[in-house]
Amino acid sequence: MIPNPLRDPRDRRLPRVPEPCALVVFGITGDLARKKLLPAVYDLANRGLLPTNFALLGFARRDWGDTEFAELARDAIRQHARTPWREEVWERLAGSVHFVQGSFDDDTAFDELAEALGELEGSHGIGGNAAFYLSIPPSMFPVVLKQMQRTGMAENTAGRWRRVVVEKPFGTDLASSRELNALVDSVFSADDVFRIDHYLGKETVQNLLALRFANSLFEPIWNGHHVDSVQITMAEDVGIGGRASFYEKTGAARDVLQNHLLQLLALTAMEEPVEFSAEEIRTEKLKVLRAVSLPEDLATSAIRGQYEQGWLAGQRAKGYRQEDGVADDSTTETYAAVRLGVETRRWAGVPFYLRAGKRLPRRVTEIALVFKRAPHLPFADTDTEELGNNQLVVRVQPDEGVTLKFGSKVPGSVMEVRDVSMDFLYGEQFTETSPEAYERLLLDVLLGDATLFPRNAEVEASWAVIDPLEEFWAGSDPEPYRAGEWGPRAADAMLAAEGRRWRRP
Ligand code: BG6
Repeated sequence: MIPNPLRDPRDRRLPRVPEPCALVVFGITGDLARKKLLPAVYDLANRGLLPTNFALLGFARRDWGDTEFAELARDAIRQHARTPWREEVWERLAGSVHFVQGSFDDDTAFDELAEALGELEGSHGIGGNAAFYLSIPPSMFPVVLKQMQRTGMAENTAGRWRRVVVEKPFGTDLASSRELNALVDSVFSADDVFRIDHYLGKETVQNLLALRFANSLFEPIWNGHHVDSVQITMAEDVGIGGRASFYEKTGAARDVLQNHLLQLLALTAMEEPVEFSAEEIRTEKLKVLRAVSLPEDLATSAIRGQYEQGWLAGQRAKGYRQEDGVADDSTTETYAAVRLGVETRRWAGVPFYLRAGKRLPRRVTEIALVFKRAPHLPFADTDTEELGNNQLVVRVQPDEGVTLKFGSKVPGSVMEVRDVSMDFLYGEQFTETSPEAYERLLLDVLLGDATLFPRNAEVEASWAVIDPLEEFWAGSDPEPYRAGEWGPRAADAMLAAEGRRWRRP
């Protein structure tokens, strides 16, 4: 008999649909739930990727019932969903939406939640399976986890699964993240903990692995023999919005360098995994994170900045210290740039420049490999004045794609060589639009696929990089930069001192 490849469990050509289950969201009235989680649930339903037996439970303090929760969900979905509105999809989803009212220290509310899950087994056939999404401030994790332990909600018994999803920031330094990890691990088994770093859910970030390991073109030059330096940029034009109370305590390094940027670095620098599995990919990333080194002179190689009043897209923008809820002598950084090394044979001597900032001229996230100059140029110097280093740029967002920058002869009678670029744009090559990061990640949680979720050792290794920076910066003032500029001058000076320049994407 000819084997049917579609019966092979490793075959991913058929869409994967999770087993019957419930998704319980703590903090359902918060921003993340409204803007990302609820729309992602709808988008999954719309794409036929939720099981028929599915229930969505919201838990929050508000004095609400199922109807009010359904209204909030409907509004959030209509406003933020990626896929078109379809009344019949919503109707089906609305029938599986439930609300449990209570505060996190309220035993009765958690008993009710446990009971509700039990009842859903009968009414919605969820098979006892449930994922708990902690979309709440980290200070609340301990009390919620303890409630789950007390009520037995975290237990995987009699063939059912129970999983927990934890949002960043995962701790505020190495010590607190270890404590948190120990706490989560005492309630859930390691395989059932999903730490969200939504950058890993982005298509273009996953494509880094395809670009590197599915092609023969790039990998031979993906190393310190050919690469001069790597620049990883996460620029945002927005300020801190209404998140002052969170951001004041956090700052750019803890907010995004510790997680998104170091994960991008890990995917860029890692070795090829033995196979494409959660275990192997996470092992390779961890090796890189452990090999990251800080420069000896932090004063010139670790720069933090804070935006002052300026202009962005023709509009006046407030300075950080004038934002609502920010202290007028705040020393929180809204920009961080650092030069890191990766102490492996592949990358020894190659600087990895990471920068992230708010109120920069535009929103752009990219990874740029800047190649060494050709060892010899048989042209007149004047003919290569416009020739820069070759570059390979992975555009994470927006304008998702990849650009290759190289020198080409300018048409004419002289041998003038100038930079040109070759572009791959998702929008031009694919008819499918990319799912939102949260769509992909929620689906993976329900499927139990942990490939795109950092292991706790990765989180801890990342804090080990950030802690010395925070210690070094403590008590000092960040360098000012005007809103709408590409960060403080000191960050430009850091590269200039090494004969390099930041890209201006
Ligand atoms: C979050 C940070 O993790 O990522 C925010 O806390 C930041 O400060 C956001 O604005 C950016 O995400 P994205 O997907 O819009 O690049």
